[in-house]
Amino acid sequence: MKKLVVLTGAGMSAESGISTFRDAGGLWERYPVEQVATPEGYAANPELVINFYNERRKQLLDVKPNRGHELLAEMEKDYDVTIITQNVDNLHERAGSSNVIHLHGELTKVTSSRHPNDPKCIRTLRPEEYEVKMGDKAADGSQLRPFIVWFGEAVPMIETAIDCVEQADIFVIIGTSLNVYPAAGLLNYVPQGVPVYLIDPKEVAVNSMRKVHVIRKGASEGVAELKALLEESGSVGK
Ligand code: OAD
Repeated sequence: MKKLVVLTGAGMSAESGISTFRDAGGLWERYPVEQVATPEGYAANPELVINFYNERRKQLLDVKPNRGHELLAEMEKDYDVTIITQNVDNLHERAGSSNVIHLHGELTKVTSSRHPNDPKCIRTLRPEEYEVKMGDKAADGSQLRPFIVWFGEAVPMIETAIDCVEQADIFVIIGTSLNVYPAAGLLNYVPQGVPVYLIDPKEVAVNSMRKVHVIRKGASEGVAELKALLEESGSVGK
């Protein structure tokens, strides 16, 4: 089977009712990014940051995967699919995708404030634990913090993601403004000659000389079109 590698961003989950970051009315218009998504913001006011992610986490209970997520999961019948997502929601997994690399962390997980990438401290919360409080402790005794990669922090999964992109037979970008590195740079690791598709209802500035096949649609319609295009081009099963 061909290896289909998909990079997703906030637009992937927009049709599930989760706000994107940089569109009009997006999250970064309503919450100052430096307050809620940087180590400095967390040091200055941990409670504000913990509560911000508590709200995001609780929203997971009210949303569900959209047709786009479902179609990507269904495509595992015909392709060896890996999803590299910048999203911290769990909608790809809930739709049934089995290989998901989370570049920016996961809302359903918490970790240590002192050693956020220590596997011994990373824990998955059950839905009834979704509200983290000040005073809740990680395994090393430090305050429990969201398992989210904030601006200015290392992106530990980027090497795994690069290895995967280097193996791609088909590369697809869905619902990301490609503003945030290193995720946006993954396109540079796609081998020459590998077709690149981009699904987004708006124009996205792609910082690369590569030929990109643009599908100017939302995620659900766009993935359906991608599936049909790949079938027409004879990519299935080879
Ligand atoms: P952005 O908010 O920057 O971009 C969202 C993209 O989704 C835009 O290109 C929109 O046009 C597109 N979009 C909107 N509706 C869509 C739909 N229905 N279907 C498909 N696409 C749609 O979000 P990201 O690029 O994901 O990081 O942002 C990258 C990172 O910046 C996030 O992971 C987050 C943020 O700060 C951290 O918090 C560390």
